[in-house]
Amino acid sequence: MTGKDPFFHVSIWRGKDEGNFVSYDVPRRESQTVLDVVTYIQRELDPSLSYRYACRVGMCGSCAMTVNGVARWTCRTHVAKVQKDGELEIAPLSNFPVIKDLVTDMREFFDKWARAMGRFHGGSTRADAFARVDPASRERRAADAGVECIGCGVCYASCDVVSWRPEFLGPAALNRAWTLVNDVRDVQRDARVQATAGDRGCHACHTQGSCTQRCPKSIAPTASIAGLKRLALCSNSLGR
Ligand code: FES
Repeated sequence: MTGKDPFFHVSIWRGKDEGNFVSYDVPRRESQTVLDVVTYIQRELDPSLSYRYACRVGMCGSCAMTVNGVARWTCRTHVAKVQKDGELEIAPLSNFPVIKDLVTDMREFFDKWARAMGRFHGGSTRADAFARVDPASRERRAADAGVECIGCGVCYASCDVVSWRPEFLGPAALNRAWTLVNDVRDVQRDARVQATAGDRGCHACHTQGSCTQRCPKSIAPTASIAGLKRLALCSNSLGR
């Protein structure tokens, strides 16, 4: 436990695009997470506060918020590690429309996964044997590096290019596409490379690396996007 005051101040965004921060006093607890704080306020101080979570163990990706100016998953973020001068400011994720308070609209985020062809398309039927993919193969290792994405939106909220160019597919959708172009069972590799190239795709990335720095699952979308750029270059030079 840090500090002697048994309570600390928390400011939380209330409203939609228009709104304001409201302050609450929250009791300190040992190993308290930011999600614990929001849950305490909603259950004990103001039941009208809207927020989103499900698993509370870092699996579902639904609890991401902006904490003291940085996008984070809140169920695995300890208050003691992110407090500034004993204060906590919690806001909805940047780059997402706000529905209410801390709840954002994720539709465009996931629509971009569809535009990046983020769905697996296999060529086998039920009559075929299971595909055998060597875990040590280059393709499998490349897919493994990005496949644990939980769709939390932290990378998307941290990306300046998404802020500047709202049509940019964003790091999560492009990382998803990268895992699929490395899936040797998928039959739409070339179409996916084309769908993720160009000004709204991988070529818009400025390689600032905020997505990689902030990803709570330690995925490197910057590397995935660089891989897509290389593939797009090869496919263009081959005239495909
Ligand atoms: S509540 Fe599921 S990842 Fe945080």
